Amino acid sequence: MSQIEKSVALAANQTIEKDDNVIWHQHQVNKQTRAQLKSQKPAVLWFTGLSGAGKSTVAGALESALVARGYHTYLLDGDNVRHGLCRDLGFSAQDRRENIRRIGELAKLMADAGLIVLSAFISPHRAERQMVRELLPEGEFIEVFVNASLDVCEQRDPKGLYKKARAGEIANFTGIDSDYEAPLQAEIDLPAGEKSIDELVEQCLVALQDKGIIAV
Ligand code: ADX
Repeated sequence: MSQIEKSVALAANQTIEKDDNVIWHQHQVNKQTRAQLKSQKPAVLWFTGLSGAGKSTVAGALESALVARGYHTYLLDGDNVRHGLCRDLGFSAQDRRENIRRIGELAKLMADAGLIVLSAFISPHRAERQMVRELLPEGEFIEVFVNASLDVCEQRDPKGLYKKARAGEIANFTGIDSDYEAPLQAEIDLPAGEKSIDELVEQCLVALQDKGIIAV
């Protein structure tokens, strides 16, 4: 594939053929060694939900609880990542897909580093979340649905973005003029419109214990 063909395929969001001359190098230190050194099981806790549902807040509080128990973590946050790694991306379906693809690959690398990764992105489409799930070994991708209705999120409107979207000042706003596909079988379903942050964190901790990701 020529460089021009690659650029065209990338722009059209097509899969790029792998270069036969790029060969995977298996290094000596592997995922298991890195995880063992940290005495933990790597995992990707994938928070999804509408803007304002509380993804970043719950993920941040859960990260604090995990760190307090001695776990090694990293929190990837939508708004923050869009200031750097994904600063070239907007909110079209194609850009959101690329956003999630990059974060998925990054989360996979961080899990390979032995970390418990928490990611907080709207990630509105099932297909993209499934794509990330398939990047990871069975049981390592934990989908956490931060389940708050559009009404609740719009009432909270912590960044004033729903107001702007309703006024036509933001296009493709999730829940307003861009769709959100709720998970069908999330590993953890958090009633984020009703319960306190502490209660939601506790629910996550119990679920992670049940799944053997953290110690009881
Ligand atoms: S995602 O859809 O690609 O997963 P991501 O989580 O990275 O979205 O970014 C969402 C954040 O970007 C929201 O919390 C909000 O602050 C901001 N934002 C700006 N424009 C939009 C938009 N059109 N739709 C949704 N969120 C937006």
